[in-house]
Amino acid sequence: MVHIKVLINCALPYANGPLHIGHIAGAYLGADVFARYNRLIGNQVLYVSGSDEYGTPITVRAEKEGKTPREIADRYYEEHLETFRNLNINFDIFMRTTWPEHSDNAQDFFLKLLNAGYIEKGTMIAPYCRKIGRFMPDRYIEGTCPYCHYPKARGDQCDNCGRTLDPQDLIDPKCILSGETPEFRETDHFFLRLDLLEDRLKEWISTRSFWKPNVVAYTQNFISGGLKRRPITRDIDWGVRIPLQGYETKRIYVWFEALIGYITGAKEYSKRIGNPDLWKEFYFDPEARNYYFIGKDNIPFHAIIWPAMLMGYG
Ligand code: MF3
Ligand code: ZN
Repeated sequence: MVHIKVLINCALPYANGPLHIGHIAGAYLGADVFARYNRLIGNQVLYVSGSDEYGTPITVRAEKEGKTPREIADRYYEEHLETFRNLNINFDIFMRTTWPEHSDNAQDFFLKLLNAGYIEKGTMIAPYCRKIGRFMPDRYIEGTCPYCHYPKARGDQCDNCGRTLDPQDLIDPKCILSGETPEFRETDHFFLRLDLLEDRLKEWISTRSFWKPNVVAYTQNFISGGLKRRPITRDIDWGVRIPLQGYETKRIYVWFEALIGYITGAKEYSKRIGNPDLWKEFYFDPEARNYYFIGKDNIPFHAIIWPAMLMGYG
């Protein structure tokens, strides 16, 4: 029997609350069974996950509890480790996105994509709270959903009808911290040029015949309308710094850097075992297989954005 290298990546849970049965049944248990099976038949396995600790999922929680984002991240990182230990789910490494090595990797990705032209500067319109004196993340704005008229829809999505929203779509938008009506102002950001990678992505996706039907359907639907550039920085301070001057008040968007956590995990594991280049074998060996265990909300990020980032990075 031929033995192969198998990289198993499991979505990084947000460190903002306890893991529930849906996380375990939906992603981690299946991955652990798969890792054990591959080891049993003699394949070389690298099994990675980690703690997703930046962005509004953590800051919203921190504000609710009157704690700092770091306190929240520390607490749930420990709690998640304990849950996995109790369930005998054994990753080779469970990294943290707040590790300095992870910021280095994320900034390296950012700069490489920028220099290759796959990231560009641009402006967007964002909600600005005059009372607080800063731009507010989308999910800090609440108002009435323009589709279903649910009164507590968030600026990023309506939890009643499930539609994704822009804060500007909301009827009577209010800042959740100050209660004030936000102003919509222009702000500078960086954008990932998915449009430039559209042809390569489409071709690659068409070869993924082994993806689950729901993943294929979701992905086809997502790309059918054409791919647009997407903002990958935010006006927030809890996140990976943008490695350029003049952007001190902004950070890299949590989804952009969290995906790179898979590589940080693989690299850090390789260092720990004294073979710092080991991770490359799992990413560059054409015979190696890469598997992702994720929840369904994570499909566009893993089926489109992450492949695009890897293509752009080379
Ligand atoms: N934290 C995200 C969630 O719980 C998943 C991040 S997966 C990663 O939905 F690839 F970005 F790390
Ligand atoms: Zn709605």
